[in-house]
Amino acid sequence: MNIILLGPPGAGKGTQARILEEQRGMIQLSTGDMLRAARTSGTEMGKIVADVMDRGDLVTDEIVIGLIEEKLEGDHGGGFIFDGFPRTLAQADALGTLLEKHGTKLDAVIAMEVNDDALVQRITARSTCANCGEVYNDMTKPQPADGKCTNCGGAEFKRRADDNAESLKQRLMEYYKKTSPLIGYYYHARALEPVNGLGEIDEVAAGIDKALG
Ligand code: AP5
Ligand code: MG
Repeated sequence: MNIILLGPPGAGKGTQARILEEQRGMIQLSTGDMLRAARTSGTEMGKIVADVMDRGDLVTDEIVIGLIEEKLEGDHGGGFIFDGFPRTLAQADALGTLLEKHGTKLDAVIAMEVNDDALVQRITARSTCANCGEVYNDMTKPQPADGKCTNCGGAEFKRRADDNAESLKQRLMEYYKKTSPLIGYYYHARALEPVNGLGEIDEVAAGIDKALG
């Protein structure tokens, strides 16, 4: 099964992707994580995208489609969870073509519905494990009291450079202008499954589970 988690910044895409990996043996493909890894390892591409990401703008279609194309060559596991990809109509078309080339298809697009107030609260309280990327939240999922990541035991946590009020405003604008048209695109393709993203993490996971059957 291949699915897209579609939703604005802070909707909970990364959080739910990790749950799906655990429960269904699927593989998370987060273009945001891939781009951040390229920055950390100092690749040429990482340097090109750094300022764009920190401003909250979208990286070019060419770069992110290239990243996804590479991953589709690898292990398919229990299917892919596309997290934060596609984000433009051109990326959506490219994904369809790539999946077809690999003899597979898209099974569902989970549209995570969360209002802007909740997004701001979630993002400004977020931190992640520097080692494995496990996502925490000062309010709803605090870092463990012993200072060790519950997933890998790592002791270093970080906050993202684009998790500030100004970049978030731009990220939301980019979402509404360029990504939200994908809701109509996938509705037309009869793949859209809207899920209420406002409940507790477990409740949202149950909503996704039900939508996927
Ligand atoms: P990306 O990394 O994809 O960021 P994003 O889309 O802005 O989404 P986030 O990762 O911020 O949020 P999320 O939905 O994963 O939420 P999370 O689970 O962490 O992209 C970053 C940048 O890279 C882009 O701005 C762009 O520059 C570039 N980029 C990436 N992909 C691209 C593409 N395809 N094309 C072009 N450019 C691209 O949760 C957020 C917080 O809320 C956490 O603290 C979490 O613990 C908490 N939380 C989660 N669920 C709940 C819940 N149900 N209740 C309460 N709290 C919750
Ligand atoms: Mg994410």
